[in-house]
Amino acid sequence: MWIRALRLTDFRNYERLELELEEGLNFFAGGNGSGKTSILEAVSYLAVARSLRGASDAEVVRGGSPGFGVGGDIVADGTVRSSTLRFAKGGKKEVTLDGEKQTLLSDLVGVLRVAWFCPEDTWLTKGGPAERRKLLDMTLCQLDPSYLDALSNYRRTLRQRNEALLSWTPDEESEALVDVWSERLLDYGSRVTVGRMRLLPRLAEAVAGFHENISGSDALGLRYRSTTTGVTGSGDDPRTENEVRSSFRDSLERVAADERRRGFTLVGPHRDDLEVRLGDRALRTFGSQGQHRTAAIALKLGEAAVLDSDGRGVVVLLDDIMSELDDQRAASLLELVGDLGQALMTSTKGAPALAAGRRSRSFVVEAGEVKRQ
Ligand SMILES: Nc1ncnc2c1ncn2[C@@H]1O[C@H](COP(=O)(O)OP(=O)(O)OP(=O)(O)O)[C@@H](O)[C@H]1O
Ligand SMILES: [Mg+2]
Repeated sequence: MWIRALRLTDFRNYERLELELEEGLNFFAGGNGSGKTSILEAVSYLAVARSLRGASDAEVVRGGSPGFGVGGDIVADGTVRSSTLRFAKGGKKEVTLDGEKQTLLSDLVGVLRVAWFCPEDTWLTKGGPAERRKLLDMTLCQLDPSYLDALSNYRRTLRQRNEALLSWTPDEESEALVDVWSERLLDYGSRVTVGRMRLLPRLAEAVAGFHENISGSDALGLRYRSTTTGVTGSGDDPRTENEVRSSFRDSLERVAADERRRGFTLVGPHRDDLEVRLGDRALRTFGSQGQHRTAAIALKLGEAAVLDSDGRGVVVLLDDIMSELDDQRAASLLELVGDLGQALMTSTKGAPALAAGRRSRSFVVEAGEVKRQ
């Protein structure tokens, strides 16, 4: 799949933008703050209805405007689909597909799939678990609309349960309120946990393959470390939603007194981790710089390959990544990415050297204006 046209209205520093993209590599060059990342961010809205930078919808609205719009023509399986997403401040996001209004944001899922690489990714295996959870979530949200629904409901429930815990006092009324949210937390949380565990073997296989390719040896393995159900390896038997739900319930009981004292939810998929292992050790605590970088690239490529597992392709977004890589790594990354489908890449410097025959188009970005070169 690939994006043939992209349209932005009042998005970040763009008042209006219309772009015709190339099926191969699209290269955006421009100075700091010119609007390069914003283009990739807009694409993420068409894939997952949210900012891949983790920004809130209101933050993305161009200063002083009432809302923003993103639209795209997406070519897949020989047909073109037009999708739009609009957001008005104080309102909800609205999505249309081929001109028809959709009731759920999750109706967007699958029309466009994106894999996003950015310089911070080199911290993926080194830093805290939030980024690794995001990798699992972004992959699953694009593959499975019901996961996207479960995750959004989980996040909302978690906020409400935390509020209930924060204002908790030792009486029945308080306890009943926490109970209501606990039941919902268990429902959505076990769906999220099971979703992640089921992804594990597929992701681990793809990641190990890329890692072997890049590093030449060294087995890279993945494990899911759950605060509610313990550790699951990629070869372990999958757990059912009921099993997960019941150990989640046990965990909530175990930390009940603590949660009421501290005022927030202590266990659940929002605190789980994806452990990356090199050989028989956790990479996070002993890996060298180079080992981290290689593992991070393998993880992201593995994600992209899983997204493309039905062969419909994935659009790869490379945000300023080349500055972080040496020439050889950059060249092999471009090769691997080229095989996956269309790519949009940004840089503050000139265009990279491309293999002969690669289709490409270059743009120059300057203060919210994009010109074709
Ligand atoms: N809501 C907004 N309204 C107007 N302008 C905004 C908004 N949010 C961000 N900007 C501005 O838009 C510009 C584009 O930001 P963007 O992150 O896309 O730049 P960039 O080209 O990726 O820069 P860098 O090379 O530093 O990563 C910045 O100058 C930023 O200050
Ligand atoms: Mg940027």
